[in-house]
Amino acid sequence: MKQNLILNGEDVTLEGEDEDSLFAVLKAETKLFSGIICCQKGFCGRCHVLLDGREVPSCLVPFYQTRLREVVTPEGFAATEEHRIFRQLLDEEGLVYCHQCTEAQIFHLSAYLEQFPAPQEEELRTAISEIPCRCGSRPVLERAVRRLVALKESDRAGRR
Ligand code: FES
Ligand code: FES
Repeated sequence: MKQNLILNGEDVTLEGEDEDSLFAVLKAETKLFSGIICCQKGFCGRCHVLLDGREVPSCLVPFYQTRLREVVTPEGFAATEEHRIFRQLLDEEGLVYCHQCTEAQIFHLSAYLEQFPAPQEEELRTAISEIPCRCGSRPVLERAVRRLVALKESDRAGRR
């Protein structure tokens, strides 16, 4: 089965079987996805993509359900202006880049803010506390996310 979708902003045609997951097809058909299969239960985040702006485990999304939908991989997201701004805020707040986690954290928190653009103090703290990190970077993440929320809010106010 061939179908069209938008991958990282480009119209593409990908081919897969009915029973294939989005993960399997992205891996087989493109070089735009470095995700890996790990838990296959939707928990680990190693295969996550954005589907119409929402973070989903691509291991659990049937390929046939993605026809004409918009998929963004972490690699595609890393090329966006939003990613650049978030990264800059993290740098300014003194984040020591972690090769294991930082990109996944940026991806996850950006998707979270897309869904909840104005989180309450406690909601944001809970979202950040759920992020895997053993190195003590959560306070830095939290400061950067708060600044990002404020930036987005002033952007929205400017557009009103
Ligand atoms: S492999 Fe863990 S969420 Fe997909
Ligand atoms: S950011 Fe990687 S362990 Fe904390």
